[in-house]
Amino acid sequence: MLQGKKVLIGITGSIAAYKIPLLLRLFIRNGAQVKVVMTPSACDFVTPLTLSTLSQSPVYIKPFNEADGSWTSHIELGSWADIIIMAPLSANTMAKLATGITDNLLSAVYLAARCPVFFAPAMDVDMFNHPSTQANIRTLQSFGNILISPSEGELASGLHGFGRLEEPENIFRIISDYFSKSASLKGKKILITSGPTIEPLDPVRFISNHSSGLMGCSIAIEAASRGAKVTLISGPVKELPVHPYIEVVSINTASEMFEEAVKAFRKADIAIMAAAVADFTPVNVLDKKIKKGISETLAIELKATQDILAECGKLKKTGQILVGFALESDDEMNNARKKLHTKNLDCIVLNSLQDKGAGFGHQTNKVAILNKNGTARHYELKPKKDVASDIIDYISEHFLSNNNKQ
Ligand code: CTP
Repeated sequence: MLQGKKVLIGITGSIAAYKIPLLLRLFIRNGAQVKVVMTPSACDFVTPLTLSTLSQSPVYIKPFNEADGSWTSHIELGSWADIIIMAPLSANTMAKLATGITDNLLSAVYLAARCPVFFAPAMDVDMFNHPSTQANIRTLQSFGNILISPSEGELASGLHGFGRLEEPENIFRIISDYFSKSASLKGKKILITSGPTIEPLDPVRFISNHSSGLMGCSIAIEAASRGAKVTLISGPVKELPVHPYIEVVSINTASEMFEEAVKAFRKADIAIMAAAVADFTPVNVLDKKIKKGISETLAIELKATQDILAECGKLKKTGQILVGFALESDDEMNNARKKLHTKNLDCIVLNSLQDKGAGFGHQTNKVAILNKNGTARHYELKPKKDVASDIIDYISEHFLSNNNKQ
């Protein structure tokens, strides 16, 4: 499965280091070659002898071999690896990686490496939640490093919360998936619209909706991690992805999103429109604040916005793939099918407001994907980043593989 793949595991000082021999064994059993680099404090939690026996390779800890004065080349280790996994990554080493401090072999290997780096933090819940740790995570992500989020559960301290190292089986699955998909979208240009739009009424008020943008941002990250160049056109959201392959274009109104999206669509191979675009906008935007007491009731006149997705459906050229979303509260399948046909889409991702835990404001989503030929694939409720992976898998399988199934 991973025959010939070269995996470097970097272990730091965390109690979760006891799980790494299991992870290492999974890689070896599946044909990968593994080298281990440890920080000196990692040796307090798991022995180098265990790791060297399982990896059938020496374990690297210090930049120099004190016995014979020879040098361990961090450059060679960094360029040997197809992939580096920092697991468990302590708050201390994470801070070093984020700031370029190289006071041990592992941090020097990290700085010298050219391959993709995955990092799996493990620490106590309060350390994990601290703004400084969160800022360091974002910094590593901005370098293109891929976060393997810790899970929630009982921690070594006895506290409960986020900070548990992801289980070895899951880390192994993430890395195996990466190897099978990493370059699958290389060379593709993908346009994604995401988040809400806001339509101003006066200088202080606007009409908007509850979209957090999490679904669109998750799709952008998933596409970029498979090698696509992504243009993410987003309304105002709390958090935007930072990734070398994602260009973010921030907009406020539906008409600004229309302008940017239509421009970007002309160059896109694939467009996925996940934004919750306002269907109506005020006819008049007042330049002074609307004062209370002018009357008992207030009518705001609205006019329809332009449908961005439908416009892209009209402009679509042979070879371009256009994917829409449908947020429905009733007669979901029929309404989604209508949108699929009237907007000239290749497929549509249906969200039902009837499904608990799905849609706006949730970390999870439950979708069905409907195809032009009338078939529908239904998915379970799952985290939005996994839904994003399902959507990209669906597009790859139906529209990009050689034996295109439509
Ligand atoms: N959409 C768009 N521009 C608009 C409105 C919607 O690009 N002005 C896109 C959305 O991004 C989504 C799809 O159209 O991909 C369907 O959006 P949805 O809100 O479900 O439906 P609407 O087309 O707006 O129709 P309705 O509100 O009547 O269900």
